[in-house]
Amino acid sequence: MPLVTSKEMFAKAYNGGYAIGAFNVNNMEIVQGITEAAKELEAPLILQVSKGARAYANHTYLMKLVEAAVIETGLPICLHLDHGDSFETCKSCIDGGFTSVMIDASSKPFEENIEITRKVVEYAHDRGVVVEAELGTLAGIEDEVKVSAEDSSYTKPEEVEEFVSRTGCDSLAIAIGTSHGAYKFKPGTKPQLRFDVLEEVSKRLPGFPIVLHGSSSVPQDLVAKINKYGGAMPGAIGVPEDQLRHAASLSVCKINIDSDLRLAMTATIREFFYEHPDKFDPREYLKPARAAIKAVVAHKIVNVLGCDHKI
Ligand code: G3H
Ligand code: 13P
Ligand code: ZN
Repeated sequence: MPLVTSKEMFAKAYNGGYAIGAFNVNNMEIVQGITEAAKELEAPLILQVSKGARAYANHTYLMKLVEAAVIETGLPICLHLDHGDSFETCKSCIDGGFTSVMIDASSKPFEENIEITRKVVEYAHDRGVVVEAELGTLAGIEDEVKVSAEDSSYTKPEEVEEFVSRTGCDSLAIAIGTSHGAYKFKPGTKPQLRFDVLEEVSKRLPGFPIVLHGSSSVPQDLVAKINKYGGAMPGAIGVPEDQLRHAASLSVCKINIDSDLRLAMTATIREFFYEHPDKFDPREYLKPARAAIKAVVAHKIVNVLGCDHKI
């Protein structure tokens, strides 16, 4: 089976009350950990590549790793550009075999966001590729872009119909209180997503797939493990999993997770070196790191996304 777009996945997810996991990939062990979990649980999958990942690992290497995963697992896998920052980056991924791209012009004024998104949609649709766009601004860090909590803003529901109809985008990322990275909420506060905003958006866009970025839950056992073995991560707090599960049962069809995989990998490798300070064969620490990623992804598929046995 070749790489697929997310069109059919989203239609089934919307109607079935579940979401597809979109996991960021940067190297072979991450691709393997994610896809092994999805294969065992028969889960459709989106693997996403950021601009930073392309700079780190090279487009062709990532493309070939994902193609290898398709061959090895036989899963329907969509290969997606995460946070495309320009028409040129999107074009390069479309020309280079991705089946889905995100154009993230959410920091630009409304009209400018529409203009650049529409240009990407025209190019992508002519080539059978789907497009995710974003309205509203998430706090946190992605590549070189850092958005402070004060500069973040919830999506305005009254803008979504015009945005979607004028751009022709296939899915829409919205801001309802999630944010990128491991420090999403102030310690001592109770995280609460704005389901009222999600509901208003969904009412205006019936049947339309909504995307949530910044949806790591920052498992406290992983943070504790990192700190136990020499790390220093104070007050790392993520999105409660029950709220993500609720979002997945509504119009949210794609949930983005990266930080939790980073935490799993780092916690495992820190522990390994603490326990085995004499060892230096990368396979010895990358193997358990890959298994830790697999375990996190399996947990998300069953307990957060609800997309197990949906292929
Ligand atoms: O949203 C950002 C993703 O976690 C990707 O992060 O830009 O550091 O690769 P990155
Ligand atoms: P997290 O940092 O919460 O994992 O979000 C990842 C993301 O949104 C990738 O686009
Ligand atoms: Zn994101």
